Amino acid sequence: MQEALKYVEENKEKFIEELKEYLRIPSVSAASEHKKNMIECAKFVQRKLKEAGVKKTKIFKTEKHPLVYGEWLGAKGKPTVLIYGHYDVQPPEPLELWTTPPFEPEIRNGQIYARGADDNKGQNFIHIKAVEAFTKTLGKLPVNVKFILEGEEEVGSESIAKFLKTNKSLLKCDAVLISDTSLYDKGIPTINYGLRGLTYAEVEVTGPNRDLHSGSYGGAVANPINVLAKMIAKLHDENGKVTIPGFYKNVKKLSKKEKELIRKLNFSDTKMARDLKVRELAGEKGFTTLERLWARPTLDCNGIYGGYTGEGAKTVLPSKATAKISMRLVPNQHPKEIFRAFSKYIKSIAPKSVKVKVTEMHGGFPIAFSLNDKAIKAGAKAVSKAFGKETVFTREGGSIPIVVDFVKVLKAPVVLMGFGLDSDNIHSPNEHFSLDSFFKGVYSSIYFMDEFSRSK
Ligand code: BES
Ligand code: ZN
Repeated sequence: MQEALKYVEENKEKFIEELKEYLRIPSVSAASEHKKNMIECAKFVQRKLKEAGVKKTKIFKTEKHPLVYGEWLGAKGKPTVLIYGHYDVQPPEPLELWTTPPFEPEIRNGQIYARGADDNKGQNFIHIKAVEAFTKTLGKLPVNVKFILEGEEEVGSESIAKFLKTNKSLLKCDAVLISDTSLYDKGIPTINYGLRGLTYAEVEVTGPNRDLHSGSYGGAVANPINVLAKMIAKLHDENGKVTIPGFYKNVKKLSKKEKELIRKLNFSDTKMARDLKVRELAGEKGFTTLERLWARPTLDCNGIYGGYTGEGAKTVLPSKATAKISMRLVPNQHPKEIFRAFSKYIKSIAPKSVKVKVTEMHGGFPIAFSLNDKAIKAGAKAVSKAFGKETVFTREGGSIPIVVDFVKVLKAPVVLMGFGLDSDNIHSPNEHFSLDSFFKGVYSSIYFMDEFSRSK
């Protein structure tokens, strides 16, 4: 294994150049004009897998974006690790807020800036390079490795979910390894054991059959924007609780032990507030910030539009207004049940003067695992070795919907070994990833394969 670690040390510049090449491909899964780039990016990943010594690779076409599969199964009698990641990225807009263009990676102060630098190209590239370090030095890996990289994580992971059901044996493994989460803090080795789920809805409110002059009609008919704003305001009470009937019905309470673990992490509200330039944090009363982020469900409006939003002023009473509303879920909430409860409630609070249409977008189940699994223990040991510190265990506020499917279909433990930071601006302008974290990630992956090889 020492040889593999040394290989990383000696090839840092090469790895960075290759990562830059990966980051130059605008693989925005949500935008149809980037369909070609998605194919280009899948091919790039396949090429990198091959160069890393993963000889058997295949690109699977799907209804939307291709899946990249690879396997190296030369470690007879040793466990098999399935490495998952996503090569798609979020749209880079608003472009004017980027210091350097999103698909022209640049290094500043030890950070690589580009869309996807952290989420998730930088993080999945870690494992490709760890595999390469083994094959180029020892000619083999300590465990069997399979890769599955998808191009739809940022838009709901539908194709991979279908693929998983019909390709159970192809993806059969003893553990799934994923780097798509964050460190608790800079330099702190972290294993994540929980993700929130998601229900995403679009609410369209329609008033009059056409846009109207706000002088001739203002006061006579309902304004869909005013109505929608009022409806959204009704979704929370004065204590920050979501008002949808039944919303909290199945929410699993935090155990005393977990509350204590969270308390020991010593999270600083002041530091977060300072970093975000707000005077104070906000949210559901009666819970600490980490409890609210990791173990409480929330509801947020992600976007609202309607009427005139161009330059200057236009006196108009719009015909329609729309809001995109997401709910982050925790165990044991069910995304479909929550959607139904939301839809019923939002319709019930709409006045007769408007029509309301509610559409379900993508969703995903929440999850929290036990820390007693040997794969998770091997993961904790590996990151601790790479960072030279004791590992902390966290949950995340974000979602990776396919994780639940991996657990259900493959019946394998999932090791969430993330190397990002909450301050990396994922999904936002100036996304970046620390090169130091990247290389510590590569070491962690090498240590993990070594550690896990001894578990069977
Ligand atoms: N890498 C994130 C998940 C994540 C976010 C982990 C924040 C840790 C902290 C992932 O790429 C992501 O953004 N997931 C989406 C899923 C959704 C589109 C179904 C999310 O959480 O919004
Ligand atoms: Zn993301």
